[in-house]
Amino acid sequence: MLPIGPYQLRNRFILAPMAGVSEMPFRVLAFEQGAALCPTELISAQGLFRINTRTMRYLRYDPKVEVPYSLQLFGGEPEAMAKAAVVAKQYGAQIIDINMGCPVKKVTKTGAGSGLLCDSPRAADIVRQVREATGLPVTVKIRSGWDANSLNYLEMADALGAAGCAALAMHGRTRAQGYSGLADWSAIARLKRHVGDKMPIIGNGDVKTVGDAQRMLEETGCDYVMIGRGALGNPWLFRELLGGPKPTNEERCELVQRHFRWHLTFSAEARVHKEQLDPEARARKDELMAVHGFRSHLGWYSHGLYGASAFRARVNQADTRQQVEDALESFFLGASVDPAAFAGEQELDYRTALG
Ligand SMILES: Cc1cc2nc3c(=O)[nH]c(=O)nc-3n(C[C@H](O)[C@H](O)[C@H](O)COP(=O)(O)O)c2cc1C
Repeated sequence: MLPIGPYQLRNRFILAPMAGVSEMPFRVLAFEQGAALCPTELISAQGLFRINTRTMRYLRYDPKVEVPYSLQLFGGEPEAMAKAAVVAKQYGAQIIDINMGCPVKKVTKTGAGSGLLCDSPRAADIVRQVREATGLPVTVKIRSGWDANSLNYLEMADALGAAGCAALAMHGRTRAQGYSGLADWSAIARLKRHVGDKMPIIGNGDVKTVGDAQRMLEETGCDYVMIGRGALGNPWLFRELLGGPKPTNEERCELVQRHFRWHLTFSAEARVHKEQLDPEARARKDELMAVHGFRSHLGWYSHGLYGASAFRARVNQADTRQQVEDALESFFLGASVDPAAFAGEQELDYRTALG
């Protein structure tokens, strides 16, 4: 298995960065289930210059579990990215991952995210400057091109490889495609054939099951498989990929409880309070925000189980920790898989998270 910089990962399976999802608690749970690498969600280079409570939330990680700790940055200016990466290193980053795939307009219009697909020399300059400023391995995540008329992933790979990119992840869709259609795995195969052993390739897009992951490895020859939506509500997928079993009801319930409790403290610690509140009112507000903020996770965890929609309706009305705790224990301990449940695409992308 090709290493990523100095890091020999323990297996081929990587959690995809997902804004609003892959915060420290979820990353650590995925690591525990066997993921070999879990990059942070995208963090703004500008945000790192004026660190506020919100940026601190993004920067929190568990140095005992998250090894190597890969931090994803976005920005369009090579110098600013290099300076931000130095700050990221001070906060513990061991790998800097650069986002060149985000399709959200407010990101691309500053020349960042998938905007960099339109300027491979600048993209390469970012990699070079970040590498030189930090001495860290720099990885990049791209889409296959801006649109169907500019599928320039081979040119990007050449430019980024020459700049010293340590690994290249590709989501096999263009920016214009969003999440429509299927990810083009033949593009990932072409990319791997093109770069050979010069650079590890991380294939990404539409891997939901163990079978999908095996098929992606076989069909594309990629070095690593990156999984996003397939891991939502299912961090056990990483265990299954390594030959482990699906979760028992007790395991499912225990992990969801742990995730929820962690989410409560994590989000309270990182919340910005604009208004003056006494400690009790503040605690109540923190609890309310955290309970509401965890609804999407509960939706994903219950996906495919009998009674999921009634459970979701119940937790979507909950305002207190106790209400959620009661609902989740009774639901997950008695859960059984509903074979007729809709197993299709999750209607979700990071436009939701970034607005
Ligand atoms: C909710 C959500 C948030 C995302 N946030 C990011 C992000 O912060 N950085 C990034 O590079 N990609 C992000 N993505 C894209 C995923 O990393 C991944 O490329 C994409 O979902 C395709 O993989 P999948 O089919 O396994 O989900 C996000 C995707 C989703 C669904």
